[in-house]
Amino acid sequence: MMSLNSPTINTSESQSENTFLKQVANSFGKACDSYLPAARLQQQVALTALGMLSVNRKDKLLDLGCGPGWIHPELNNRCNEFCAVDLSAGMLKKAQSLHLATNYVQADAAALPLKTAQFDAVFSSLMLQWCPRPDAVFAEAARVLAPGGQLIITTLVQGTLIELQGAFATLDQKPHTQLFLPEAELMKAAANVPQVSWHFKQRNYSLFYPDVQSLARELKALGANQVAGRSATGLTGKGYWQKLAAAYEKHRTALGLPASYQVLFITGTKNAS
Ligand SMILES: C[S@@+](CC[C@H](N)C(=O)[O-])C[C@H]1O[C@@H](n2cnc3c(N)ncnc32)[C@H](O)[C@@H]1O
Repeated sequence: MMSLNSPTINTSESQSENTFLKQVANSFGKACDSYLPAARLQQQVALTALGMLSVNRKDKLLDLGCGPGWIHPELNNRCNEFCAVDLSAGMLKKAQSLHLATNYVQADAAALPLKTAQFDAVFSSLMLQWCPRPDAVFAEAARVLAPGGQLIITTLVQGTLIELQGAFATLDQKPHTQLFLPEAELMKAAANVPQVSWHFKQRNYSLFYPDVQSLARELKALGANQVAGRSATGLTGKGYWQKLAAAYEKHRTALGLPASYQVLFITGTKNAS
């Protein structure tokens, strides 16, 4: 059974939000060992984001949605100390096995059990698309940041997996993939946190796959297989896969089947006072 991922839920019920967060944590927990080899995009994006961060060796940093912590040796070289936060106990345990952060905290980025104004920088790569309330995440990231502190968040926005969404749409109208938020909506959410001067830059990444099954396997290996607002109805049956593959084929290039990922780099500095 396979369903593909969804970053945003349109629900006002905290119960559904809690259920969704549990599903996300479980999915990523199950993927903690398979994640890194599948994380081609995630590695490119996080390393680019890291290059945008100007921290110094005295700084204290927060890695929000740290995953298995593969980037922690890099963070360790750049700052004095850092704290690692993730919703998933499995991912956090994997990160903790590296013993590089000063503390490991299992928490929702929208409600951080962390003291105000304690970090010189907040780093968060490809977590935000999993958060039902990005505005609350922006507010929390800004709260824990010291005045003058820096923030870099990357996320996936509308246009991501557009080829796969199109192929599914030829089969039925169910939400098989995420409804990635448009950049404008995230800009609006960030504007609710005026103590940070925000900047946004979108970049398109294309990854190539031999076939649609390889793309689906990669998403599952990443733990990116939750669809919010519905139970996982799954992809079943050979016929269904054949139809999906046939619909995707029209995008084939000499490099294979492309999948587009629209990555938004959000940077900010918290006002000095
Ligand atoms: C795609 S992985 C990215 C991991 C790592 N930052 C990287 O770049 O490889 C997303 C991570 O965000 C975590 N996550 C998802 N929703 C979260 C939330 N609401 N609060 C904290 N972490 C969350 C997941 O458990 C997962 O480890």
